[in-house]
Amino acid sequence: MADEKLQKIRIWDLPVRLFHWSLVVLMVVSYFTGRWGGEWMKFHFWSGYAILTLLLFRIAWGFVGSTTARFSNFVKGPAAAFGHLREMFGKGPHDAGHNPVGGAMVVVLILAVLAQVAAGMFSADTDLGTVNGPLANLIADKTVDKMTAFHKYWFNVLLVLVALHVLAAFVYLAWKRQNLIGAMVTGSKRADQVVAPGQPLPVLKFASGRLAISLLIVCAAVVYFIVRLGG
Ligand code: HEM
Repeated sequence: MADEKLQKIRIWDLPVRLFHWSLVVLMVVSYFTGRWGGEWMKFHFWSGYAILTLLLFRIAWGFVGSTTARFSNFVKGPAAAFGHLREMFGKGPHDAGHNPVGGAMVVVLILAVLAQVAAGMFSADTDLGTVNGPLANLIADKTVDKMTAFHKYWFNVLLVLVALHVLAAFVYLAWKRQNLIGAMVTGSKRADQVVAPGQPLPVLKFASGRLAISLLIVCAAVVYFIVRLGG
């Protein structure tokens, strides 16, 4: 039993982990380069393009990637979410990948960051005309102003969502003694946190690294063409 408890199960593939921690770093880079402005805006733009590439990759990986990366694995209805909350007050929870509540948050986070990047592409300083998002010249100045205002405001919404997200991870650590952050780093979880005692371990399939790299290249190319649309 002791061995079974200590047994580590591989949950997250490398692409999901690299996606996550690169996204965290790029969010920080985007925030500070955006605040500093001026010459730093060049890096702000590149950081935004990198985030967009990552998001497109993660969405595609959610359909063709490893078991725990797939949306079908963690996007569940409200019944599953309530079931999970009940488990929190019992001996659980036991999850191989994202739990149904965390899974919903993952989708919200991905869409919220996507909205931020999309608005950034159409944002610009219409008075100075010096720092134009790559697609800003495709739309009217009034709409550009709205996009810019949204881009600035939405970051605060993102901050709240990320704060909730990180808080949830620490609640798991303090209350349920489950180190989800460590699992996102190493890719593995303890077997007793993945399944209830006596239950069979889940069969998880891991997609190939070659597929991940090919997909990333395609996503980068798509972003390149989107950026070029603005001329
Ligand atoms: C230092 C800050 C952060 C920590 C400690 C953290 C921690 C975690 C953990 C533990 C998970 C896995 C949850 C689970 O086991 O179900 C996760 C997933 C995720 N986090 Fe974070 N996170 C951080 C920052 C962020 C930021 C800034 C974003 C984006 C704005 C973000 C977006 C996501 C997404 C999209 C996933 C799902 C990963 C996937 O399935 O590909 N996180 N995070």
